Amino acid sequence: MAAARAKETEREDRLFHDPLAASLAGDEGFAWLERMEPAKHTMGGPGMYAVIRTRFFDDFLMDACESSGIRQVVLAAAGLDTRAFRLDWPSGVRLYEMDLPEVLDHKEAVVAGANPTCERRMVRVDLKDETWPKALLDAGYRADEPSVWLIEGLLFYLPRSAVHGLLDEVGELAASGSRLGLDLMNWNLLFSPVAWPQLSALARRGAQGRFGTNAPEAFLARHGWEADAAQPGEEGANFGRLPDRSVPRSLPGIPRSFLVTAARP
Ligand SMILES: C[S@@+](CC[C@H](N)C(=O)[O-])C[C@H]1O[C@@H](n2cnc3c(N)ncnc32)[C@H](O)[C@@H]1O
Repeated sequence: MAAARAKETEREDRLFHDPLAASLAGDEGFAWLERMEPAKHTMGGPGMYAVIRTRFFDDFLMDACESSGIRQVVLAAAGLDTRAFRLDWPSGVRLYEMDLPEVLDHKEAVVAGANPTCERRMVRVDLKDETWPKALLDAGYRADEPSVWLIEGLLFYLPRSAVHGLLDEVGELAASGSRLGLDLMNWNLLFSPVAWPQLSALARRGAQGRFGTNAPEAFLARHGWEADAAQPGEEGANFGRLPDRSVPRSLPGIPRSFLVTAARP
């Protein structure tokens, strides 16, 4: 993901500017992106999905803070995300980055010396472990104030029970008026021959695709969220980079990914 963001940063018509991404990706990250080349015909390649997704959720997070007045931002599975440094946050924003300790330790070593544009707090947790909400609360999160959450690039890799467990916990912590962004794949993508080069490369690295849903709005409704789902390439999830080849949702059997935004009534 960081390598894809670094490459995007080099473009004149870039959709975002992520000057820390190249260092975070390192040689290994760029080599990984290179190895994914066989997948370049699926949605413009693995890099393009990451780029569209990044910009889509940049806009979503900023809108939640600017138009809804939210001042708590939680990036679950933040990974090598640098939004705490590169977005122009309104004053008073406190941003929590949650990920596994070894991932955040690596990131801290690379970003040392860079200045965040918000109040940034690290929360080293395993999101499959039910103790993570306490760690977030201990870091200063307020469950009685609205928040905006982002679960980006994670749910696809988790077993079904862990996905539902995580969303139950998020629901407990998200006050009325909170917002949630996440990305989802559908079941057909999990078994798609077209996506097979990418899926098998990920699985070989221990990141096997496990979870998908063909009904993202209903899935989120089960957890108390009113959701809208866009497929990359559709209006609002395109940014002039992808032809809108999305096939109507009514047509079954098509591999799909969804960029989902939701609100908590
Ligand atoms: C594909 S990356 C996405 C990272 C980031 N959201 C982005 O888009 O660049 C998935 C992230 O999920 C994190 N992750 C996977 N399993 C996790 C777990 N059980 N608890 C916490 N983080 C986890 C990984 O460490 C990794 O940083």
